[in-house]
Amino acid sequence: MLLLRPPGVYRAQGDTSLLRHVLRERGRNGEFVGRSVLDVASGTGALGIEALRAGAASLTAIDLSRRSVAATWLNSRLHGIPAVVLRGDLFAPVASRRFGLVLANPPYVPSDTPSPPRYRMARCWDAGPDGRLLLDRICAGAPAVLDEDGVLLLVQSALSGEQATLDRFEKAGLVSEVLMRARIPFGPVLRSRAHTLRDRGLIGPDQTEEELVVIEARHG
Ligand SMILES: C[S@@+](CC[C@H](N)C(=O)[O-])C[C@H]1O[C@@H](n2cnc3c(N)ncnc32)[C@H](O)[C@@H]1O
Repeated sequence: MLLLRPPGVYRAQGDTSLLRHVLRERGRNGEFVGRSVLDVASGTGALGIEALRAGAASLTAIDLSRRSVAATWLNSRLHGIPAVVLRGDLFAPVASRRFGLVLANPPYVPSDTPSPPRYRMARCWDAGPDGRLLLDRICAGAPAVLDEDGVLLLVQSALSGEQATLDRFEKAGLVSEVLMRARIPFGPVLRSRAHTLRDRGLIGPDQTEEELVVIEARHG
């Protein structure tokens, strides 16, 4: 898929590809036809555009970064999709709306700092000491943005706690399960902080790969 990526915008990577793969597989049986899509933390817009290709009806996308908002807007037009693209913090810009399909590839990499980073690119991946700054907020906010029969698909690293995500969804009143897993070699960010992650016991002594998981959540 052709995607323009201005400087400072997340390059679609292994996590993006895994969720896109799930969208294509699940889209084959027409599951997403006619659904309204919310792509939260949209980056280039890759996920939302894939969902529209899989038959979804409309796309709303949100990102905190101005450049990502511009990239999602441009890429959606490039693919003939009149997406509504909003700048804001997670679900805040769509507080009173519900969607049939919610997609999220949020920042989830454990970092040294407890608060969201100021450096632009780090905002694409850093998510506090346990990697859950954004994940926990997505789990808590999901029920309010999901239609009665809506589906949320989220991708994260197992390093930031897949069971924690399942537990948080349950706490929020949703049922959830892991749909797919993939092992991928550490990218530059994890390689650069492998030492710290090892010291903190988050990865094994010789670990050079992480496991990505796609999690589905819906109303029970
Ligand atoms: C890992 S990238 C994912 C981009 C794209 N969805 C993909 O799969 O390629 C995470 C994105 O989250 C955005 N982001 C970070 N904090 C956010 C927040 N609080 N609200 C909305 N977006 C945020 C970043 O700007 C970045 O574009």
